[in-house]
Amino acid sequence: MIYLDNSATSFPKPPEVIEAVAEALAAPASPGRSGHAASLNASRSIHKARKGVARLFGIKDNSRIVFTCNISWALNIALEGLRLKQGDHVISSSLEHNSVARPLARMAAARGIIWDQAPIDSNGLTDPQEFRKLLRPTTKLVAMTHASNVTGALLPVKEVKALIGDIPIVLDAAQTAGAIPMEDVTTWADIVTFTGHKGLMGPTGTGGLWVRPGLELRPLAVGGTGSRSESLRQPDFLPDALEAGTPNTHGLAGLAAGLDVVLKTGVDRIREHEMNLTMRFLDGLGSIPGLQVQGPTKREQRVSTISVTIDGWSSSDLSAALEADYGILTRSGLHCSPLSHQFLGTFPGGTTRFSIGLYNLAEDVDTSVKALEVLAAGKR
Ligand SMILES: Cc1ncc(COP(=O)(O)O)c(C=O)c1O
Repeated sequence: MIYLDNSATSFPKPPEVIEAVAEALAAPASPGRSGHAASLNASRSIHKARKGVARLFGIKDNSRIVFTCNISWALNIALEGLRLKQGDHVISSSLEHNSVARPLARMAAARGIIWDQAPIDSNGLTDPQEFRKLLRPTTKLVAMTHASNVTGALLPVKEVKALIGDIPIVLDAAQTAGAIPMEDVTTWADIVTFTGHKGLMGPTGTGGLWVRPGLELRPLAVGGTGSRSESLRQPDFLPDALEAGTPNTHGLAGLAAGLDVVLKTGVDRIREHEMNLTMRFLDGLGSIPGLQVQGPTKREQRVSTISVTIDGWSSSDLSAALEADYGILTRSGLHCSPLSHQFLGTFPGGTTRFSIGLYNLAEDVDTSVKALEVLAAGKR
């Protein structure tokens, strides 16, 4: 099996992660609730995960890091929590995942917020000036993915922030956390959302957000926190304000171990490895007749997610043939991002997506190029 679906979830998980989850499962503990040693230990492992996220994103106060069950939940907390009202204007990129697009679409339909999308150019790139052009006196929020989960294109978030001043940016770092260095992210994003099970190498069921000091979010859910239990009001301090209910202790123990692997390996080295393989792959694809790569092909403009279409093939048939004939696992269709495909011109059929991760090798890429050569020539 050749696993090239790391944008969906990274695989394999490092042995340290598997061990940490197993160890947490074997311990009798609910963190932050009881005073016994096992409960304190569980709290420590969550604290370790928070410290790991803080190191990755250069965050000084790790109490502003909130854990959630995935990035979709974190994005909902961020987008809904800002309490936008009728007539408030929001700008997003045109490459958003449904985790951003659906909350915004619902806020537009149910609450009358006005939502514009900054277009991409013919290379799938976004010019930061497009955001400036869309600004209105009523613009209250910019929501942006850091890298497209369809084409791998990096978005110019820092440049957009320089153009929009005090308007908050909610960043979707699902495809970049652990894949590109982000120690300065808190200087150009106001809310950073992340998922634990992709580049951070952790288990599913983990994710979260960092909220800049001064921004207050209304919780989506309230409930037990193990703190201020005498009051019927949700605590107003982070992370408790946004962390109702018993956390995913087992998953977060795994996330702490995944973050450890990422930080010890070094995000720079991970980026170098993934991009070397990506450029090798793109070089190989360049000479296949009938195959189109969607989005940018330059190293500095992208991450390691590569979407292709081949004349005469549907994206799902191509993915199925790659698995059946070569054992190559990819993803086909719209990748939960119909907007991207509308802007790229690949809607509704979508693309076949290859996504390279930390544990892929040059052989995986070379086998995939050869497979695509054969399939594109119709020689199944
Ligand atoms: C850019 C982007 N945003 C959001 C998500 C949603 O992630 P999750 O399913 O972990 O909430 C994904 C996952 O594919 C993604 O690629």
